[in-house]
Amino acid sequence: MKRLLLTSALPYANGYIHLGHCAGAYLPADIYARYSRLAGKNVLYVCGSDEHGVAITIAADKEKVTPGQIIDKYHAANKEAFEKFGMSFDIYSRTSTAQHHRTAKEFFADFLAKGLLAEKEEDQFYDSRANMFLPDRYVEGTCPNCGYDHARGDQCDSCGAYYDQLDLKNPRSLVSGEKPEVRKTTHWYMKFNELQPFLESYIESHAKEWKDNVIQQTRSWLKQGLAPRAITRDLDWGVKLDGIEGLPADKARGKALYVWFDAVLGYISITKEYTENTGLPDSWKEWWQSAGTEYIAFIGKDNIVFHTLIFPAMLHARGNGYILPENVPANEFLNLEGQKFSKSRNWSIDLRDFCTDFPQPQYTDALRYTLAMNFPESKDSDFTWKDFQARNNNELSAIYGNFVNRTLQFINKNFGGSVPSLPEKYSDLNEKWKELVLYFESCPAGTDIMGSLPNDLAEYFNVNDLTVIFSLWAGNKIASGLYSKFRFRDAITETMNIARAANKYFNDEEPWKTAKANPGECAKTLYICSQLVNSFSILFAPIVPNSSKTIAKFLYLTPVTGEPGESAPQDFSLWESSVFPLLRENSPILSPELLFLKIEDDVIARQVEKLGSMGAEPKEETDFIEIDDFKKVKLRIGKVLEAANLPKSKKLIKMIVDIGTEKRQVLAGVAEYYKPEELIGRSIVVVANLKPAKLMGAESQGMMLAASDDSGNLCFVAPERDIIKAGGEVR
Ligand code: 2FM
Ligand code: ZN
Repeated sequence: MKRLLLTSALPYANGYIHLGHCAGAYLPADIYARYSRLAGKNVLYVCGSDEHGVAITIAADKEKVTPGQIIDKYHAANKEAFEKFGMSFDIYSRTSTAQHHRTAKEFFADFLAKGLLAEKEEDQFYDSRANMFLPDRYVEGTCPNCGYDHARGDQCDSCGAYYDQLDLKNPRSLVSGEKPEVRKTTHWYMKFNELQPFLESYIESHAKEWKDNVIQQTRSWLKQGLAPRAITRDLDWGVKLDGIEGLPADKARGKALYVWFDAVLGYISITKEYTENTGLPDSWKEWWQSAGTEYIAFIGKDNIVFHTLIFPAMLHARGNGYILPENVPANEFLNLEGQKFSKSRNWSIDLRDFCTDFPQPQYTDALRYTLAMNFPESKDSDFTWKDFQARNNNELSAIYGNFVNRTLQFINKNFGGSVPSLPEKYSDLNEKWKELVLYFESCPAGTDIMGSLPNDLAEYFNVNDLTVIFSLWAGNKIASGLYSKFRFRDAITETMNIARAANKYFNDEEPWKTAKANPGECAKTLYICSQLVNSFSILFAPIVPNSSKTIAKFLYLTPVTGEPGESAPQDFSLWESSVFPLLRENSPILSPELLFLKIEDDVIARQVEKLGSMGAEPKEETDFIEIDDFKKVKLRIGKVLEAANLPKSKKLIKMIVDIGTEKRQVLAGVAEYYKPEELIGRSIVVVANLKPAKLMGAESQGMMLAASDDSGNLCFVAPERDIIKAGGEVR
């Protein structure tokens, strides 16, 4: 059986996982892992915390604790949140283990011995006030590629560029805020340039099947040409260089591996930990050094270069039969209510907070479904609370849940709580169902499947039966094809379409009428419906596994939702078999509870209110901007014509504001400070060229400036004298 090795980017243990992370690298991988296990693949899904690098030491400085305390806190919190979210990792470990340090050092030592590392004395930023070299995130400046002025020392969060820190413009030390000096320090540089020809052919060999965004970004890196890159840092947190053969101790002192060099190797060291735990320590090689394994690396778009170039270069350079990623299905970014996730502005939803506010498993499912239907697969996408409510109420509950509940309730009421036994006429229904599916399978593409149906099948089934069994078979097949191309949104839409077809079947068969008029027909209908319920518990399991567990409980079955350790025969695809009837006649059915409860407006309104104000990112005093940057913001005097509280919101006031050239609807989070009637007629400074945003379903076409302090005071910013009319420019 083919082995499938899956990894998700190891999240830094310096903060809580938020929904943007989930939609990028975690939920897609979990859905894929569950789907693949259900389809009979031998899956190993590996993840864990990335615990090194300056991301961790900066967080420790900020929280005034040690790096060790930071990683312990966030590793435990994120592991727990992932569990509640239903992530089906085979192992979730961390990079601070001895195994990891050993593995990373072995790679370094091997590259050193192979002459792939060059020791070089080079210039680097040095903070003379703090007395330290400034690695990566300790320095900030303007991106040499796109001009973003909060670019980090090694990578730009805005355009994704990955560069040498000395190329940063206007560098600032984040330790002292001062402009750093440049001093010499010795580091080891990996000769990635020597691996360029190999990487070019590797990437081109996958150009057809990889996602466009991934290929384009990777090609542009290759086009620029890979340069030798320092893989060590002056840092006393991380994988230290001590005890490496061929490396004198005095040279190694004070140095650690660059976090990206060791992080990607975390996938391997964590696999080793997994196989050690299973008592077969050497079997990690079957996963990483065997052509029989297919490896897929799930990541967000900011990690592309490390997984398409750096990691493959390292694996290739190491030799020993290491396999390379067969695909790197990177997602774009998820936004939240129209804006980027930002922890500093409280414009974020941490997974652990969601799980606290919505502890019932059905809501975790609703979150999984909503995120999956909005995966940023080809471009950035948006999560809104309204959409979460609508997906839960109008799709999960009204379509999928409705079908399951109406079927099981009807069976409880009319068939004594067990799968109906089939009347004589339909005693061979299972065989006929199989024949029908085999017939579907045998039809070449383009066949008029229903038109050329063999007579015996056309006579045996009515048109409703045929339609619903066809929908199940076709939906299953189409969803499989889409999953294997990582097109999750479409795969899930197909799955929901089968549930739509099932509801239509129930409606068209009108069992409430046949129950009396034609009990045999009614038994057949509900027999088919109960098979569909069981099939749905398999087909929906990758997306909403908790609901599948609930259905298993209703049907007195052991749940199978694509989790590790579930007993399924080797090489058997439960997924494929779900197009056939699997439930036996007369098997018992529990009186069901609702699979999904509706989510009310006030629950959603409370969540929206929790999101932070829409103000700008707090800026440091030292964060100077050019006059041209300031001129980008068009400030105008706006006159408030109308004002009213936004229904169901405690914070928002909706205003109609005259800005001279036009009237705008603007929402402001000031209801705790002003009464609407106080605002009518007043002149206030408005940001006139802010991109419109939706807040609680209403559009805000600008922003009113307000000042606030730490004691909770807030007031609008207004012209000092009443001589400037609406539209007056603020400069
Ligand atoms: O972006 C991040 O959160 C990194 N810690 C991802 C690392 S992925 C891999 F290298 F482990
Ligand atoms: Zn940039």
